[in-house]
Amino acid sequence: MSQYFVNQLTSEEINEKIRGYSSWIEIDLDAITHNLEQVRERTENRPVIPCVKSNAYGHGVVPVVAHMMEQGVEMVLVAKLYEAMQLRDAGLDVGIVSIDPLFSDTDYAKVVEQDITQTIYQPEPARRLNAAAEKAGKVTPVWVKVDTGLGRVGVGWSEAVDFIKKIDDYPHLGLTGIFSTMSEADELDRKQVQRILDIEKECKKQGIDVGVKSIASSNAVFHKPYTYLDATRPGLMLMGFYPEDDDTGQGIELKQSLCWKARIEHVKWIEEGEALTYSRRFVAPKRMKVGTVHIGYYDGFPRGLTKKGKVRVGDQIKDVLGTVSVNHFLVDLTDTDHEIGDVVEAISREGENNALNVANLAGIMTYSLGNGLHMLLPRVYYRNGKSVALTSPRLVE
Ligand SMILES: Cc1ncc(COP(=O)(O)O)c(C=O)c1O
Repeated sequence: MSQYFVNQLTSEEINEKIRGYSSWIEIDLDAITHNLEQVRERTENRPVIPCVKSNAYGHGVVPVVAHMMEQGVEMVLVAKLYEAMQLRDAGLDVGIVSIDPLFSDTDYAKVVEQDITQTIYQPEPARRLNAAAEKAGKVTPVWVKVDTGLGRVGVGWSEAVDFIKKIDDYPHLGLTGIFSTMSEADELDRKQVQRILDIEKECKKQGIDVGVKSIASSNAVFHKPYTYLDATRPGLMLMGFYPEDDDTGQGIELKQSLCWKARIEHVKWIEEGEALTYSRRFVAPKRMKVGTVHIGYYDGFPRGLTKKGKVRVGDQIKDVLGTVSVNHFLVDLTDTDHEIGDVVEAISREGENNALNVANLAGIMTYSLGNGLHMLLPRVYYRNGKSVALTSPRLVE
């Protein structure tokens, strides 16, 4: 077991803390192992470079990466330099590709010092990074991002060979990979892959080894085997969230790792005709038992679930009543014996309120659902059904 999991509270201490929480997220790390294995199987055991951007899509970047390292992951991709620093601060000696653009000398120096593989695609950042590495007496690893058609970031594919030659000439930059992002448009996807292959071929002719070639994220892992190249970079699917409805039934069976729990803070009975929440958005059709749950859209429970949400109460699926507000939503507790302090599942691992169904109900993508989960919610990590880690960056403990 890695040092990260050794240095945690005991399971009993974690469970005791949970008893005091009004809401928390549970992550089943074994599900992430399963999803990683599914990807490896589909991609014929190519290296997987998990994308763990946006706090591992709300799952918590440090414990997720610590766990992945134990499953043989050697490199991850982050979107923010602070995510890379979180990993280093936690003592995780994993390869890190960062796509965060750099603007200050301090950050150039940090990237070099922390052995972070910086994404490069413009001349001036290349010059500054080389200068920072020279100052530190190092050769710092870089990946060149190529825009093969998405039109977001990267050196244009037709200028990529010239740019790579310039990178290769810098004595303190070490090119270890080239990568691109798919446009996820059938008519362009094959061309994009071909552009990467052509760039590699031309560089090889000129005596330059481009290193790892990578273009596939979750969508391509599901649907486009010709994109796998040397390494894939899936993100969301490793957490067990299907990005889109048509990703199900593709021979990759994901296990959702996340479950979001919250406690009922108030219970009351209301009479037929009584109204609840802002703008009287819910009017009781009969006498009902109603619970108030202490999460709202501040926490990441989408406001789009107003009058539509479904949550798990015991073994039943129950309706969200009226408006989802900043810190609360109301739930129908009629025909349940649930009381104050009992737990409801805002997002369950399976069934009618799993992540994909909740996102669909709210009219958002599973990406937004995961990304929207508040950073400060406590997260509890499980292996073999036992709590093994807790992150609780609450302002007051
Ligand atoms: C550069 C890069 N690679 C990989 C991914 C992973 O994408 P997904 O979560 O769809 O697998 C992303 C996500 O946005 C990305 O920006």
